[in-house]
Amino acid sequence: MRVYFDNAATTPLDPRVLNLMIEKLREIHGNPSSIHHLGRSSRNEIEMARKTVAQAIGASTGEIFFTSGGTESNNFALKCAVRDLGVNTIITSPIEHHCILHTAECLQKYNGIDLQLVKIDPLGRVIMDDLISKLQKAKGKTLVSLMHANNEIGTIANITQIGEICREHGAYFHSDTIQTIGHFPINVNNLNISFLSGSAHKFHGPKGVGFIYINSDNLLKPFIDGGGQERNMRGGTENLHGIIALGKALEIAINELEERKAKILSVREYMKSKLVETIPDVKFNGVQEDPFLYTVLSVSFPPGPKTELMPLALDIAGICASGGSACSSGSEKGSHVINTIGELKGHKTIRFSFSHFNTKEEVDFAMEKIAEMFELVS
Ligand SMILES: Cc1ncc(COP(=O)(O)O)c(C=O)c1O
Repeated sequence: MRVYFDNAATTPLDPRVLNLMIEKLREIHGNPSSIHHLGRSSRNEIEMARKTVAQAIGASTGEIFFTSGGTESNNFALKCAVRDLGVNTIITSPIEHHCILHTAECLQKYNGIDLQLVKIDPLGRVIMDDLISKLQKAKGKTLVSLMHANNEIGTIANITQIGEICREHGAYFHSDTIQTIGHFPINVNNLNISFLSGSAHKFHGPKGVGFIYINSDNLLKPFIDGGGQERNMRGGTENLHGIIALGKALEIAINELEERKAKILSVREYMKSKLVETIPDVKFNGVQEDPFLYTVLSVSFPPGPKTELMPLALDIAGICASGGSACSSGSEKGSHVINTIGELKGHKTIRFSFSHFNTKEEVDFAMEKIAEMFELVS
């Protein structure tokens, strides 16, 4: 048996999305910028996908721009806010994805922005008083970039409250919603938000395609100069079939959200209870009461014969999971998120992350292998 518990790293394609992609790859190939009928039919497909995304988050179609994924969308928001909106302070948190942290560090180094990291509590929650105090001290225009759900520990930030705090202090607000788009209802009309980012491969679409929402109040210049695609904001021939697939994957995810959530929650809770039953002193990282990112279960395993080698041992046993995030799995420094919230001595964090394709039988299989690793098998 092989078990895929790494859905926060990426999700498998929904078979319906795959079928649509194959069909469209065969049927349409026109360049969306060409004015002949083949170009126009490709353009039409892109605009239909844009409409789906806009409707899914309560935006207008003019506020949605397709990109190559979450990393680009996050770069887009931060870099254009500094270049085009005159932002000179960025407030973010030490547990953001590296595509936020490294972008902000780059803006600090090359553009001289003031970079402030807001304090985080041991469960990964933003300390709102610290955010307020940093906003009060900030000079000039400020962008707050705080993720909706942390990809490693699953803690959810109250983006409604953060948006309000930003409004009160006249700051722009960007949220990395890459783990929550398609998994939680998000409506930009209920949030004071300037930018948010999405990535298709986190909701059973293909890799290498995403989008950014840019509130229409914010006038930005092109992020990628070129042929004027994406209403002159991002040059380059569009990833036509990826965009079609993103639209389809998001439409399905929104339609089936509650059903998928219930299934994922039952598998997650089952695994959590089995871990508590089987492994003495097991702990869980991040907030465990609603609301939390139900796709993620971040487990802190106690010292045991194979604890240090667990990511490898799980892989050998046929279980795909991550030590931290997929991006930091190979890093010797370990996860910056776990380092920030603090890990119990000798413990090892493994992130199991689920989709509606997972089953309790897969959990039983994984638990059998984990019990063997801890030599708890009678
Ligand atoms: C919270 C978060 N932000 C950004 C990204 C990067 O997205 P992409 O892989 O589409 O570039 C990821 C993906 O792991 C993520 O989990």
